[in-house]
Amino acid sequence: MIRTVFVVMTSLLLAFNSFSVSAKGDAAAGQEKSAACAACHGADGNSQIPMNPILAGQYADYIVRALMDYKSGARQNPIMAGMAAGLSKEDMEDLAAYFSSQQGLTTLPRP
Ligand code: HEC
Repeated sequence: MIRTVFVVMTSLLLAFNSFSVSAKGDAAAGQEKSAACAACHGADGNSQIPMNPILAGQYADYIVRALMDYKSGARQNPIMAGMAAGLSKEDMEDLAAYFSSQQGLTTLPRP
């Protein structure tokens, strides 16, 4: 009995877990959409230009929130307002999945 309960609970947890991962955007699609971002943020999100934030390794939720805020005007920046204006929620989630899956310079071990 206990064993059955354990198996059922584990399956449920796994099912929910894979659901939430797939609901959070497609990193491969995000990589394709990120061409427009590469000039400023770097192809893998590791911007070499201090003015442009590093996106690699950033939390996906943070990236989605930032893009939504630029689009709505809650966060004001003329460059990013223009970039976010044409993005759908799905685009934002895909881009966030891609950049968050990259190794960030800020998260590499320090020498
Ligand atoms: C022309 C240069 C440029 C391009 C192209 C560009 N960005 Fe940005 N991005 C910036 C700058 C500059 C900032 C900092 C703005 C600020 O201070 O809020 C920024 C900020 C951001 C932030 C907030 C980061 C943080 O740490 O808060 C995100 C997320 C972001 N950009 C995503 C993108 C995505 C996704 C694309 C492609 C669709 C893109 N950017 C294209 C210049 C650019």
